[in-house]
Amino acid sequence: MKQLLKLIAMAAALQTLVPAYLSAVEIVPAPSFMRENRSIVRIPSEIGIHVSDKSLKPAARTFMDSAGKKNDDGLFPEFKFVPKAGTAFMVLDLDTSLSGEEYVLEIGQAGISIKGGGISGVWWGLHSVMQILVQSASNADENGMFVSGMVVKDKPAFSYRGAMLDCCRHFFSVDDVKTYIDIMALHKLNVFHWHLTDDQGWRIEIKKYPELTRKGSFRKETVVGHAASSDTYDGIPYGGYYTQKDIREVVRYAAERQITVIPEIEMPGHAMAALAAYPQFGCVGHGYDVWTTWGVSKEVFCIGKQGTIEFLKDVLDEVAGLFPGEYIHIGGDEAPSERWDECPDCRKLVETEGYSTSRELQGYLLREIEAFLKTKGKKIIGWDEILDGGVTNTATVMSWRGPAGGIRAAKQGNHVIMSPNSNFYLDYYQTENPEKNGEPHGIGGYVSLEKCLSFDPYDGLSDDEKKYIVGIQANLWTEYIPSMNHVQHMVLPRLAALAEVSWSENKCSYQDFVRRMEVAMVPLYSHFGYAYADYAFRGIR
Ligand code: ACM
Ligand code: ZN
Repeated sequence: MKQLLKLIAMAAALQTLVPAYLSAVEIVPAPSFMRENRSIVRIPSEIGIHVSDKSLKPAARTFMDSAGKKNDDGLFPEFKFVPKAGTAFMVLDLDTSLSGEEYVLEIGQAGISIKGGGISGVWWGLHSVMQILVQSASNADENGMFVSGMVVKDKPAFSYRGAMLDCCRHFFSVDDVKTYIDIMALHKLNVFHWHLTDDQGWRIEIKKYPELTRKGSFRKETVVGHAASSDTYDGIPYGGYYTQKDIREVVRYAAERQITVIPEIEMPGHAMAALAAYPQFGCVGHGYDVWTTWGVSKEVFCIGKQGTIEFLKDVLDEVAGLFPGEYIHIGGDEAPSERWDECPDCRKLVETEGYSTSRELQGYLLREIEAFLKTKGKKIIGWDEILDGGVTNTATVMSWRGPAGGIRAAKQGNHVIMSPNSNFYLDYYQTENPEKNGEPHGIGGYVSLEKCLSFDPYDGLSDDEKKYIVGIQANLWTEYIPSMNHVQHMVLPRLAALAEVSWSENKCSYQDFVRRMEVAMVPLYSHFGYAYADYAFRGIR
């Protein structure tokens, strides 16, 4: 008994290494390892940063700019570069024994040291420092801000941690998109999936096909209220698109923040805006308008016409040149085959290829496009419907109709990104009773913060199959989300649960997650002026 009490006392002593009057530091997503010690470190009002490897300077500058932005509340110290490590409070370095995104962060009397396996490792370490500094501000007195000494060793569980923004149903300016990217960086997310083409608007300039944006980027009006029950339209023309210069700027901005941009060019469905511009690539061949309501249209690209595939290859040729990442998302969801059944060109191709149904035309297109993109050094991602049209074994499947498609894909050896609507459709309501809780009007569904956090990407998979899960993603479809403020309300704080699930190996309870969020992340949301939803922090589910 005595021995047991002694052990308990020792364990308690380990837990309370943090000086009594400093609160324990939290980091979201939870790091792989973190230990605070008894030392009390004063954070100077001006932090001199030294980069031991000059490749780290741009990331350090971007961090200084981000942390310095909107610093009217004086939450952060001032930052400046110093030429010598000896005079710096924060030293950044590379350590090739670590993997690329991995970092080791140490805080002691000599200051802060971050070592990363690559630039991205140091970058994510800096974001942990951002959270630590926020908490040191709550330990401030007339002598400055204080934090306990600590060691953090951290690396992500998944190499793909994504967030999608639909810029078709509503258009978001380059500045808005940059804000979305800033929000992603704050959560250590590293893939921005940019939904650029859909029925309601084509948003990317393609030089060879100028009508795509001249005609296809504008709709004459938009449905008012819920599309399922409304026949009222606002009569207001709506549109916008990104020039290739804009696209390059966003890609550059994201890269500076260690985020890869994956463009999505939808095919063979969600093609009304493209068909309004170039009707010859549809089965019917005429009478298309950029769509003014939401849903699934039966108008799709005609796969039987060779011209369509050439057109899509031309488009993707320009797209491939704009996005340096290895993946291009080719959509593939919600493509009804009704038009293919009626179309002489499509029926002929079905016959020539010996297919039993026109559904297989989707697989035909996928193989053509995948082979073409391979010549450009690119791989493809498609929504889980591509499994039904005859998927290749090299395409990556993005599971959205729950996790089932992802499980099926992993079992047959395809790489998978899990973005199930059941857990990561952030356009869904956040509380059980949205009207009573004053949630803004939305598409429907219910995905609470707790539901996001509860996602297990490996559920239903054997140890051998788990390796096919490359990552997790949250999606924001914007039919009912017209502004960046509204975007922020929908993604915050649920993106933090995505971060926790995709970065952290350490599972925590929902209650503990909410508590850690309030300490580590919410002050940053406030600092940056993000319009986060506070239901979870008011105990509303
Ligand atoms: C989807 O939500 N249609 C991918
Ligand atoms: Zn056709």
